[in-house]
Amino acid sequence: MKDQAERLRELMKERTSGKEEHLVKNTAKVLAITSGKGGVGKTNFAINLAIAIRRLGYNVLIFDADIGLANIEILTGTSMKYTIADLILNNKNIYEIIGEGPEGIKIISGGSGFNELSMMNDENIRKLLGQIGKLESSMDFIIIDTGAGVSNIVLDFIMTADEVILITTPDPTSLMDGYTVIKALTTNGYKGKLNIVTNIVSNRMEAIGIFNKLNRASNNFLKVELSFLGYLEKSSVVNKAVRNQQPFLLSSPLSPISKSINIMALNFADIGKHDELKQENSFAQKLKDLFFGRGG
Ligand SMILES: Nc1ncnc2c1ncn2[C@@H]1O[C@H](COP(=O)(O)OP(=O)(O)O)[C@@H](O)[C@H]1O
Ligand SMILES: [Mg+2]
Repeated sequence: MKDQAERLRELMKERTSGKEEHLVKNTAKVLAITSGKGGVGKTNFAINLAIAIRRLGYNVLIFDADIGLANIEILTGTSMKYTIADLILNNKNIYEIIGEGPEGIKIISGGSGFNELSMMNDENIRKLLGQIGKLESSMDFIIIDTGAGVSNIVLDFIMTADEVILITTPDPTSLMDGYTVIKALTTNGYKGKLNIVTNIVSNRMEAIGIFNKLNRASNNFLKVELSFLGYLEKSSVVNKAVRNQQPFLLSSPLSPISKSINIMALNFADIGKHDELKQENSFAQKLKDLFFGRGG
């Protein structure tokens, strides 16, 4: 596989030959939710975190980058008129394909079907990233729900995020695959904050134990430091929410896991810190760093 940063640099060279870059105003903070293994709770986490941050007064958009699976729509009981396929194939602009989710969150659908996935070549990813960059001036947070694993598409989306939130469960394969994602990001020169959320755990002690394992391995072998964002207990509230197609923050607002999500959202709420961070860490700056190298 071609070095990821190099591949993106090539893409960006083409992109900056257009003029759109100068129109990008930086405000949104981009968070990528990811995992090594599928089915660990990414989409449920992404939706509920989006709502929790929205309730703190921010404009939040979820971009469903788990292309072709339309899980955001299923789990929010919504159906979007347009998907990224309309942007790529039918020349809709990014504003046209944004739909409404619960409680005022905005959603961009990744579509449902194999066609959406098969059209994600380098050119189309470039087009998409360029268009997402335009949303920086109108959104406070862009939450990207990625697919699992370390495919090129997943890495492309993560590399442009200000912060990563990696979800892992106590399952040893989830932990191992999570480490593989951290390794791939580090190898590709990712410099943003790496937050860890442990999901489907029994208690705080177990959650911290899992985080410590992952952090020790990352410290020792990759020389990177991870941040513990929080944990969610194993809870029947999640399956109930999935079945009812209603985020658990709405269906079970007082449950322990809803409280945990609300506390995690507060981590992103400090506007002063947010602006400070953004100056060094904007999406546009990330793209530039990726494509031209740091300090270039
Ligand atoms: N905290 C939790 N407690 C119990 N089950 C959970 C929890 N989080 C996720 N799940 C289970 O995992 C399934 C997959 O969740 P989902 O968010 O779709 O994962 P992903 O997006 O990583 O594939 C859910 O349908 C639910 O059954
Ligand atoms: Mg998912």
